[in-house]
Amino acid sequence: MAITIDDTKRIAIAMQLAEMKALQNVLISNDQLLMGAIDDTKIRQRLQEMLEQDQQNLDILDTVMIQYGVQGELKESVRQRLADTQSLMEDSKLTLSEKVLQHELLKHQQTMAGLTIHKAAQVVGADVEAAIAPLHTVNFENRAHQEQLKGMLEILGVRELTGQEADQGLWARVEDAIAALTGVAGSVVTRTDDEMSIRDLLLMDHSKSDILFAEILGSDDPQKIQEYFGQLYQDVKIHGLAEEQVLYPAVRPYYKYTEEIIDQTDHVIEMLDEVRSFDPSDPDFKTQVKRLRQATREHIDHEENNIFPTVRENFSHEQQKQMATEFKAAKSKLQDQQNFSAVPLSQVNQSSRRDREKPQVSSMNNSIPWKLVFQTKAVINWVEAVIFLVADRWIRELLNTEPLANPEYSQMVYGLVFIIGIGYWWVGRDISQNHDIVRLGILAQSSVFAVLAYHTLLGSLHPFYLISGVIDLTFAILFIWFLSSYSRTRETAQTRQVLE
Ligand SMILES: [Fe+2]
Ligand SMILES: [Fe+2]
Repeated sequence: MAITIDDTKRIAIAMQLAEMKALQNVLISNDQLLMGAIDDTKIRQRLQEMLEQDQQNLDILDTVMIQYGVQGELKESVRQRLADTQSLMEDSKLTLSEKVLQHELLKHQQTMAGLTIHKAAQVVGADVEAAIAPLHTVNFENRAHQEQLKGMLEILGVRELTGQEADQGLWARVEDAIAALTGVAGSVVTRTDDEMSIRDLLLMDHSKSDILFAEILGSDDPQKIQEYFGQLYQDVKIHGLAEEQVLYPAVRPYYKYTEEIIDQTDHVIEMLDEVRSFDPSDPDFKTQVKRLRQATREHIDHEENNIFPTVRENFSHEQQKQMATEFKAAKSKLQDQQNFSAVPLSQVNQSSRRDREKPQVSSMNNSIPWKLVFQTKAVINWVEAVIFLVADRWIRELLNTEPLANPEYSQMVYGLVFIIGIGYWWVGRDISQNHDIVRLGILAQSSVFAVLAYHTLLGSLHPFYLISGVIDLTFAILFIWFLSSYSRTRETAQTRQVLE
């Protein structure tokens, strides 16, 4: 099916969000400007708090735009209007109260924009409502800010007109607005962005996909289905790719089944492309969507039940926030790259596996069980080391050779052989990692062979010892083979990506 997210309603909302973000930046610079211009410490303190909330709300707006997943351009006329407002605020001819009045008008505009988006979301679809849910906080705070600004405006106005202090009742009004703000906004779950960790962001995406599946399966209108599937396709794909860039590499050292999770993500992305080839009016379409939902749900459960606890246990709150920032940045970049709002999905790079730098274990040299190769060599090292550490004297008696004059050297060597075995075991656990150990192993094993062969040729060493040299040489060759086929697979993957 030819899916484009050129649904005008969705794009209109995206544009409104872009406008809100631009206006939020103006509000922040106004807060700062007014703080510099007002002497009254009480009012300045209130403005400082407002500034902090406005900055947090800018972050929330950013999050909302990314969760929403449709990019909207800022209209030139809006950009111009905001620039005019900004220069008006900087105009020295305006009195303070006139500037506060301008600021209050802008706050009003921002509040109305936020409320309108909410109403529009109810019309467009539940997934949109879910994506923009954190906007509630922004709207609520803006309404409270308006009340505070009205109070400040009256206090400043009375001063300018009469040179006297206003009635204390006016301050009470400002205080009331602040009290309402802290009481209610404090209970909003996603009140500030700094409380939003990577898990919150992932959960928001996961529940948005649930909603989209429900909308698709519950609708009989092909136009609607197309629109919802377009959104689902984009959301899930970008979510999965962003996880592969940020989340999975971070948890890999703490969760041993990370590869499985990545394979599941790839599988879901491949299924998305399969389902996309069906026409929504095809009787099989919904069966395919159900299969996709099943696979997606299984993966989400796996992630929420395993990755989430791993993140909770191994990363500090700060690190989780940092990961959330990186995840948002990755999503935003992917959204930009794919520019879904303008480009038909059929022209968009469909790869998922290929987007990752790391080639899959299964896609390289299926004939050789590399994991087993490294683990076997680890065991050989351990067994060899233990035998020579414990039974060196008897072996020498058996071979009829001289006992060692300095057994400590031999013990050091076999101690190292044992330790290098641990390195090979690590490589075997995840063959995509620790390739420098493999390189070190190639050097070590080749030099062992060279030294042993040299002394065997000279006749100063019993040929029995060359057995371990030959084993080492064989594995050195295998290791070289491993590294070259690994990098070949990676190059092929990258070339394929470039070609597409
Ligand atoms: Fe996820
Ligand atoms: Fe995932």
